Amino acid sequence: MKQTLIIKAEQVTQPNILKTIQSIILDGGLVVFPTETVYGIGANALNKEASKKIYDVKGRPSDNPLIVHIGQIEELSIYAREVPDYAKSLIQAFWPGPLTLILKKQDIVPYTTTAGLDTVAIRLPKHETALALIQGLKLPLAAPSANLSGKPSATEFKHVYEDLNGKVDCIIDGGPSSIGIESTVLDCTQAIPTILRPGAITQSMIERILQRPILDASTLPIEDAPKSPGMKYTHYKPKGDVTILYGPIEKVQEYVISHVDSSIPTAVICASDYELLFPKVRVRTLGYLSQPDWIAKQLFSALREMDEWGMKRIFIHSFPEVEIGHAVMNRLLKAAGYQTIKL
Ligand code: TXA
Ligand code: MG
Repeated sequence: MKQTLIIKAEQVTQPNILKTIQSIILDGGLVVFPTETVYGIGANALNKEASKKIYDVKGRPSDNPLIVHIGQIEELSIYAREVPDYAKSLIQAFWPGPLTLILKKQDIVPYTTTAGLDTVAIRLPKHETALALIQGLKLPLAAPSANLSGKPSATEFKHVYEDLNGKVDCIIDGGPSSIGIESTVLDCTQAIPTILRPGAITQSMIERILQRPILDASTLPIEDAPKSPGMKYTHYKPKGDVTILYGPIEKVQEYVISHVDSSIPTAVICASDYELLFPKVRVRTLGYLSQPDWIAKQLFSALREMDEWGMKRIFIHSFPEVEIGHAVMNRLLKAAGYQTIKL
């Protein structure tokens, strides 16, 4: 166990505190910082040993590359090359923000950061603490989500503390993440951009800017789909058995009621619209169907609560797969290990 320094995001603007955090990074240490999507475990992306520490602390497989977070658009060409014009249009439209671009890497980015790939994932975050930190350092930060590998991403300080206190050098507490779901990952190494991980920047938002259709790896035949190394790993899974129930709410209600077994702690995760329909089980609502952004924001806290509540059986009523709902269902399906029932 090491001593982890805990700092409030508001304090990061104080020059002496900013200096302390920066010297941790310059010495090859790890600092958890808030972003608008989820918390990240940051290390100097150009330092091999520092980014290796991230894999060790998370228990992350060494073939799953890290995202490089930069502080200004102008820095992009230091770390990436052959940036296509369409990527430049997307940068204009969506940076800073929750869009990560996969591009060919420059030699300066070590293979430990990219897990041996010749491509690099780059993102310019919008969160002011993240930006203050990166811009002050004048170095890019490699940062995966600040959770132990396999657990739901951390969207609140307490999640980070639970997973990483005593394992990292510093945690910056920025309160709950405003988006709550990780960035959209877009492969920009081919003529047609392809979404590798859906997020708050949706396919239709990207197509609106580019004025042409793009691809989504999750809807392509398996043999044609470009892969993100992260896609093959189990993610977000609570300890209990998770099943996604598709179908009209009446049938979902009937199914859950007929499966209640008082000896098995059971929970339902559903929209707030349906809160009162499941009287004999624990109910965790994510938000009203009319507020899809709120549903996204609640998602990872709800999955972590299932373990805190000791739930052994978890039924999730599927959410509409439109816009950010596509990213929500992508995460929920992973949490369920793709176990689904159509009613
Ligand atoms: O919102 C986010 O993206 C957060 C915050 C902290 O910025 N970060 C995050 O990082 O979610 P992580 O490591 O949990 O997810 C990064 C994803 C993984 O699925 C990884 O496989 C993919 O990006 N990725 C990274 N580099 C890649 C590359 N060169 N080619 C394809 N996929 C890549
Ligand atoms: Mg992650």
